[in-house]
Amino acid sequence: MSLFPDLAETLPDGVRLWRRRLAPGAQMALLDDVARTLEAAPPYRPQMRTGAYVINRMSNCGSLGWISDTRGYRYEPLHPETGKAWPPIPVELGRIGADCTREAGFADYEPDACLINIYEASGKLNLHRDYDEADFRWPVVSFSLGADAEFLLGGFKRADPTHRLVLHSGDILVFGGPSRLRYHGVRKIFPGTSPVDHSVLPEGGRINLTLRRAR
Ligand code: SIN
Ligand code: MN
Repeated sequence: MSLFPDLAETLPDGVRLWRRRLAPGAQMALLDDVARTLEAAPPYRPQMRTGAYVINRMSNCGSLGWISDTRGYRYEPLHPETGKAWPPIPVELGRIGADCTREAGFADYEPDACLINIYEASGKLNLHRDYDEADFRWPVVSFSLGADAEFLLGGFKRADPTHRLVLHSGDILVFGGPSRLRYHGVRKIFPGTSPVDHSVLPEGGRINLTLRRAR
């Protein structure tokens, strides 16, 4: 039993969560797409402005990819280590993203970027806002694959209280509208809880994909 309520039933305006929207077969198909994508755009650990390395390995697909280095955060058309263009957003990923955003009330969503976050069993992601996109009217669509994660959804200031949400493989979360700039992060991974076994998943870990409209 958790001390914190799971927010799933009482999400703030602009946040939609579809529990296990993707059945295991669809999760495996997306993980196949991720594996192909990572062959073309190998995962790497970006540096932050401070010089410290990001905990998770990352990659991207789409015409733009989110990157970080000692100059800061931004979107770039080329992989910073290979110098090659990011591979395209897999067709099925784009299609499911379009279905979910339409159901959440955002018509004509055309993502141009997808960040791939690869969490080892010990991975996490500090509280942050998705703040590098040109137009915050477009939502972010997050796909969870692999082990469960404790996701924190906060307010509009870093110090605001956070609510805890366990994200499972196959869950899809849209955050947009009045919630587009909420702080969020991943406090921990629950190693070994993945319902699917795919070679692209780190041992006990998780992969998160976030579709964005960057420009
Ligand atoms: C992110 O905020 O970029 C990823 C969130 C997640 O891994 O669930
Ligand atoms: Mn984010």
